[in-house]
Parts: sequence; structure tokens; C-alpha cells
Amino acid sequence: SINFKSLIDHEKGIVDRRIFWDKEIYQQELKQIFARCWHFVAHESQVKTFGDFITTYIGEDAVIVARAKDGSINVMLNSCPHRGNKVCFAGEGKIRSFVCNYHGWAFGLDGKLNGMPNNELYDDTEGFKKEDWGLHKARVESYKGLVFATFDPEAPSLGDYLGDFRWYLDAILDIDEQGTEFLPGTTRSVMQCNWKFPADNFVGDIYHALWTHLGGGEATLKEYGGIVVSNENSYQASVNGHGWEFSLGNNFGNAATMGDKDIVKYLRSREEEISKRLGSIRAKMWGSVASGAIFPNFAFLPGYFTFRTFLPKGPMETELHSWTLVPKEASDEIKDKWRLGTMRTFSPSGILEMDDGENWEHATAANAGYVTRHQKLCYSMNPTKGQTVPLDMPGETVVGQLNDSNQRLFFKRYAEFMDAASWADIPLAPITK
Ligand code: FES
Ligand code: FE
Repeated sequence: SINFKSLIDHEKGIVDRRIFWDKEIYQQELKQIFARCWHFVAHESQVKTFGDFITTYIGEDAVIVARAKDGSINVMLNSCPHRGNKVCFAGEGKIRSFVCNYHGWAFGLDGKLNGMPNNELYDDTEGFKKEDWGLHKARVESYKGLVFATFDPEAPSLGDYLGDFRWYLDAILDIDEQGTEFLPGTTRSVMQCNWKFPADNFVGDIYHALWTHLGGGEATLKEYGGIVVSNENSYQASVNGHGWEFSLGNNFGNAATMGDKDIVKYLRSREEEISKRLGSIRAKMWGSVASGAIFPNFAFLPGYFTFRTFLPKGPMETELHSWTLVPKEASDEIKDKWRLGTMRTFSPSGILEMDDGENWEHATAANAGYVTRHQKLCYSMNPTKGQTVPLDMPGETVVGQLNDSNQRLFFKRYAEFMDAASWADIPLAPITK
């Protein structure tokens, strides 16, 4: 089998291009990463009451996320145990039971097989028990509104999986008592790129914003001086392969849906209160130029509050699902502006998402060239090496947003998963916060 430590040298910052196109590696990712990790599947606000459901994927496995009568959130395979048909064709909705379109088997919102047409045909069938033929269920846990699931019974708890990254997530999820919600609707689009390009981009690549997004930034952020990124008072932090790069400068104008004045005003009006609750570091992280990602394929932009998953569809195709997160307490007017802002910037026709998609598609296709594939990729940028981070923040932290640190640690984590025989071989950082 392939040894991933030989494909990825995270210390030197050298990555083999093979991981971005190879079919065999992709199959190994489905097994070693997607069937093992905790995956974001929904925000609790998307499945508020009995009957609410949405459908998505864990790896290439179609799943349903549904709120059952007892209030529990269930995540189960969207595949009928009879002949395998999808039992739910819709993206989201409200329903009392899932009836398979092929022969009519009916399942509860908890995944149980409740009945089927002509059930007398099964009465005398030896060994047949309805209890054995429900929808296959995943483990489900939530963190402050975000629902995660895993199909691996051996996986650690979600709390251990996220570890100290929760300290950072709280800068978005725990800014007040009311919490957050997703605005209604999911944006779905398909890109011809390997899923790791968007993941790598969100976990630590602010570098590209200075070039890829130069035009969009200048057009919309003129009065704030365009997209301002520097290694002054900015950092990267990584925990268990999850990462967040951010600036603590007073640059609300940069973020928040490209300088919408009312959102900028709203962000500023909350800073003092958030600072009292979470301290001044996280009060500034909330609205700064920043990006973050949870391993393997769930990402977000603080300030813009777009949250997104990069769902693999083969080594060279990715389905992108995205949403807008808002503080529940914000006014409807602000929430609407936020929705408009994420549509303008990070939707399939958004000025920033179009910039990015083109690059990831070309990078994926180019890496597969026969001669090209034998060359290596450079992840060695580390300009502030050795500088001590002067703040009390958990995880592996470095000075400077413009840095490949988080991306190297993402691929270190990737190699750990790909080489591990079981969860026992996958290290978890100690929890300190
Ligand atoms: Fe679902 Fe037959 S495949 S009822
Ligand atoms: Fe970008």
C-alpha cells in the first residue's frame, strides 16, 4: 500500500501531486478519512421540529438528517435496505415518514422500518424481522448548533475530535446566549476539482486573496483600502488538522460581506459585549479577515459567515453546499443583508467564489498530466518562523497569516489518517482550554 509520509513531507512543505487526482488514493480517502471522521451534516436550525429533514453526503454516502418525534436528530444512510434505492430524493423538507419510491417500504424519521405494501408476503419469511431492516444509522453529536455525524463506532467523541479548536469556534458560535442559526436554503454547485483544494484554501490560504481576489477586493472595498492582509498582528492556529488564520487588526471593513456598512456597524456594536464574554482576542477574530476549516472538508469565513462543505464526487469533482450563518439576535434587516452579501461574494455567481473555482479546477486538471504528476508542490512558506506568539491561544500557533503553516499541518493530518490502521494510530492533541 501507499505510504503517505513519503508523499507528504510536512516539515519541508513538499506535497506529491498524486493526492489530487489518483483514483486509488481517492478510494483510500473514502475509507480512511470519510468513513472515520466526524462530519458536519446540518445546523440544528435546519431541523428544528419533528419531521424536518435535509439530505447530504458523508464522503460519497448519501445521508438523511432528520428530527424524530422524540426530538432526537438522526443521521442515516439515504439508501433503502431492500434494493438500495434512495428513500428520499429531495434536498430538504418536512415529512412524517420516508416511503421508498421503488416498492414502497416506509421508514420513520428515526430510520426504523415501519412497514411495506403487502406485508403479509413477509409474514412467513423465515428469519425476517422488521427491526433488522431499518436505515443504517450514524453516531450523532452537536457542538453549539452544529450537528456532526460519523459512521465509525471507534471514533473518539466529537469533543475530543474538535479538541481545543472549540475555543476558536466559540468566537462565532458562542458570542451570546441566543446562539446562531442558518438562514433558510442551501446553495449547491459542482466544481471539477479535487476536494482538497478548497479545504487547503480555507484552512490557511489568505495568500491567494492578495492576487486572486485583487480585482473583487478593490471594486468593493475601495474605501477600506482593498483587501488588507499582512503578517502584522495576525496568526495561524491549528488543532488536530482543523485550522484558522486570522488578523487581530481593526479591519472589520474587510470582512462582513465586502464592507456592507450596516453589517460593519453591527459587528462593531457587538465587539464590547463579545469581549466581556470571550475576551478581547476572540472579540476581534469575529469580524476580521480570516478563514477556517474543520478537518476534512467543512469550512467557514468569519465575518462573511458563509459555512460550506466540499463533498467529494470522485478525485476530480466536488459538490459544494453552502449556507449563511447569522447570530439569532440580529434584526431581520441585518440578516437579509448578510444573505445578500454571501450571495454576492461566495455563491456560484459570487465575485469571490468564481475567482477561486477557476483556479482549483485548473490546478486539479494540470496535476494529472503525465510529466506534471512527477513534479512536487511547494508548501514551504514560513516567513515568521521562530517568532513567539505573544498571546494565550491554544493549538499549534504561528505569527503571520501569510504562512503555509496550517496547510502543512492539514496535510500532516491527512497523511496520519491515510497511513493509520485504526483510530488507535491517530493522535489527538491534549485539551487545554
Ligand atoms: Fe426500496 Fe424496494 S428498493 S422498497
Ligand atoms: Fe478565495
